[in-house]
Amino acid sequence: MTNIAMPSPVSTEEAQRQDRINGLLAQMGLDEKIGQMSQLQAGGGYVPEHIADAIRAGRVGSVLNEVDLDTINALQHIAVEESRLGIPLLIGRDVIHGFKTIFPIPLGQAASWNTELVEAAARISAAEAAGCGINWTFAPMIDVTRDPRWGRIAESPGEDPLLASAMGVAMVRGFQGDALCEVGAIAACAKHFAAYGAAESGRDYNTANVPENELRNVYLRPFKDAAEAGVATFMTAFCEIDGVPASGNSWLLDDVLRQEWRYNGMVVSDWESVVEMSVHGFTHDDSEAAYAAVTAGVDMEMASTSYRDHLEHMVHSGTVSLEHIDRMVGRILALKFELGLFENPYTQREEHPELLSRQHLKTAKELATQSCVLLKNDEHVLPLSASRLESVSLIGPLADDGYEQMGTWVFDGEAQHSVTVATALRELIGRTVDIRQLAGVETTRADSVDEFAQVRQVAAEVDVNILVLGEESFMSGEAHSRANIDLPGQQLELLEAVAAAGKPVIVVIMAGRPLTLERVLPLADAVLYAWHPGTMGGPAIADLLLGLAAPSGKLPVSFPRVVGQIPIYYAQKNTGRPPTDGTCLHMNDVPAQAPQTSLGMASFHLDAGFRPLFPFGFGLSYTQFQYVKITTSHHHIALGEALDISADVLNTGMHEGEEVVQLYVRDLVGSVTRPVRELKAFRRLRLRPGERQRISFRLHTDELAFYDRHMQWTVEPGHFHAWIGGDSEASLQTEFEVRAA
Ligand code: GLC
Repeated sequence: MTNIAMPSPVSTEEAQRQDRINGLLAQMGLDEKIGQMSQLQAGGGYVPEHIADAIRAGRVGSVLNEVDLDTINALQHIAVEESRLGIPLLIGRDVIHGFKTIFPIPLGQAASWNTELVEAAARISAAEAAGCGINWTFAPMIDVTRDPRWGRIAESPGEDPLLASAMGVAMVRGFQGDALCEVGAIAACAKHFAAYGAAESGRDYNTANVPENELRNVYLRPFKDAAEAGVATFMTAFCEIDGVPASGNSWLLDDVLRQEWRYNGMVVSDWESVVEMSVHGFTHDDSEAAYAAVTAGVDMEMASTSYRDHLEHMVHSGTVSLEHIDRMVGRILALKFELGLFENPYTQREEHPELLSRQHLKTAKELATQSCVLLKNDEHVLPLSASRLESVSLIGPLADDGYEQMGTWVFDGEAQHSVTVATALRELIGRTVDIRQLAGVETTRADSVDEFAQVRQVAAEVDVNILVLGEESFMSGEAHSRANIDLPGQQLELLEAVAAAGKPVIVVIMAGRPLTLERVLPLADAVLYAWHPGTMGGPAIADLLLGLAAPSGKLPVSFPRVVGQIPIYYAQKNTGRPPTDGTCLHMNDVPAQAPQTSLGMASFHLDAGFRPLFPFGFGLSYTQFQYVKITTSHHHIALGEALDISADVLNTGMHEGEEVVQLYVRDLVGSVTRPVRELKAFRRLRLRPGERQRISFRLHTDELAFYDRHMQWTVEPGHFHAWIGGDSEASLQTEFEVRAA
């Protein structure tokens, strides 16, 4: 047995914990050590005999997917009282965007750009889960992605590394609190390490071919920040990265995570991703897969049992050293000590807050409200004035579906707790306004148009038509990618039927991804994007439609015009032939017999141009904001210095509103090409009508760092442009220079 040297200087508490770990390791047999490295599927509210036996034998370190408090306490009792060494269990669960109180899907939470609120939501999720005995969540998912075809974009924080980092760190803080041993804290898990969001064609589990420079500058950034924020665990991705599956990728799990980042938390594989390396064709069989994973640095195997079946032989034969195993088991034990499980392995329900409490639901409504993004609002058709309404229609398959509005990755939320748009509108205006509700189509996918005649009639009779359209929750999430991201089924035809009535048309969309809306927009006077808004989605949307709240959400991901534009994102490279509005004519505007060089020789699509339908960071309010007077405190600064970039923000409209002010920077020349813009900071600002505020961002040269051609983290002197505005196409621009010294 080896005493595991802790990373340099440790506190007394950490030294004492290390002594306890070393003491335990000294008592453990090899089979018990390997047992700690195994996580088994439980669940169903009872203790399966084979699980009980394995726990008793010290062959299980963790179970996942059991959520019944008494069953979890029974599992812990077997581990603590009936096994030889009494090592408690890690109890894992996917608490992705809520436990019983369901918050908007993470992509929707990212649209709030409100890290404090996202942290508060994670805190509530942790408290509710901990109250049921769960002590480890497999969240935050911080896979940057630029492909809305990918079903798991719903769980992601969107396309931008900085926003993804901010959301990931907020969730880690929320889940883990100030100390993991505190009541209500649970261990978080940064996943899926790494580049899972780069799956080719947006097809889940597909190959991710990402050059190291882009891997470091884009996909790894949120994971590095989560590690620095103290996330307790990492989870490896299903995908291969440039030919090497993440669960067997020693460059990623050892060179980068351990050696470069000095990360000392525990790494768990994704579900059977260890043995899937043989399916990838990276290993021949489970034994080789176990060897690849354990030598790369996967401390715990989820669901599959290749560690349990093969590691003992590898240690006895000397192909895997006992020291290596001890280091891995040490990390698992360290987490259990940090969680306080040795002192308090059992959960007392009364120590925890009630599920779905008024405060929890209030926070869920607030986050859902701030997650909604107003994409269109012609003639200020929104907010509706209830006093001037006699009747409205409420049409669509998602207007009154408490299950679908919760979204993907909802294991423990229940539809009966959801408040739908229909319920919320009835509560708010049902006494004075006639609400004519019709689904119009049976489901979002249904091809039936049987109800359309009735829909047309109602649409013609009411003052305003409100539609709630989109995707059912299963149409995003794991393994649920789409090649066509239009509104599914006959929903566009339903909208056409309603629009034909000539009354104002308000469209609310619930979806787990950006949808292609080019044909929707002309048919609607207003479009509110609600993602899948969770338990309190209905009251949030109703308040926004009626002006009891004002929309402030901003897109965390670009919306393509057509699926053929994907990947499309704001932080593109300039290319040698950057597109401009002047040079990129639409092919329908080109005269017949056009010569080969008839159009600008630039990087664009003849039939879609080069701009998204809506850019990253975009979102309207019920008021208007104007940006003027951008300045920098210095025209040039030296490496290691900072400058202030400031601008005035004015509320030029009639309503009070919140704006997410964004700072973007461009490094004009680099040793590798640099994006045409990069988000560097953002801040929420509340302004009354007519109010003007000057906002300043302090930018340190360290924030301009990137991985250069030699993969060195560096800041290169040179010229920079900067913009402050309300989205990634902000036009208010300034510049500054960074000099060597
Ligand atoms: C799934 C997911 C992962 C999840 C795990 C446990 O396949 O990829 O995100 O945490 O298995 O449910």
